[in-house]
Amino acid sequence: MTYDSAIKALSQDALKFVKNNQVIGLGSGRAATAFVKSLSSYVKKNKIHVKCIPTSLQIKLEAEKGKLHLMDTVQDQIDVVFDGADQIDKQKNLIKGGGGALLRENILISAAKKVVIMADDSKFVTNFNRDVPVEVHPLARNTATKDILKIGGKPSIRTLDRGYPFVTENGNIILDCDFKTIKKPKALQEKIQSIPGVLEVGIFTRKPDIIYKALKDGRFDVIK
Ligand code: A5P
Repeated sequence: MTYDSAIKALSQDALKFVKNNQVIGLGSGRAATAFVKSLSSYVKKNKIHVKCIPTSLQIKLEAEKGKLHLMDTVQDQIDVVFDGADQIDKQKNLIKGGGGALLRENILISAAKKVVIMADDSKFVTNFNRDVPVEVHPLARNTATKDILKIGGKPSIRTLDRGYPFVTENGNIILDCDFKTIKKPKALQEKIQSIPGVLEVGIFTRKPDIIYKALKDGRFDVIK
């Protein structure tokens, strides 16, 4: 048994939050991919209709494989978003953006009636202690770097394997910022957000309604 089998099992359990005719937000990454696979089979088997909004090309490709009905804009209220997370603190704040899809993920999560987060137990911490992804307009990379240093962070430009800068689907760069242990995530989120050229901060303070915790032995817990 592994995290993968736990993620698969919880992605099937999470289908109980899906109802006919809903608008569903699809997050990005491994857990969201497992959910898309479960949702595709569920929609086919039960002949229900749902409209899905993807947060990245990565998850859009998975949803296309599963023949899900896709939309590109947020036209209606989003009933429920299913997404992963990079870290979850004791107050249920999230760090997101490990895959670079934070801007779209935040748009969907902020607009959703219900948010379901799925992550393995290694991502649960008392206080955040990993880098915070910050999406920045390329023009502002030097000024934003200086501003982040001023508020106590150590930013580094995210790069691909051979040193090319990672460019988001919105044409921006990501600064992964080390703030050591983060005790006041909302205050830090606001400080970073106020820096000119910052488009999105990977600290999400909208609390999820349901959190699935995948365990190494293949089981999972649900935190409400
Ligand atoms: C994408 O930008 C991220 O926010 C992902 O949701 C996050 O990295 C979790 O991904 P995994 O489910 O692959 O760990």
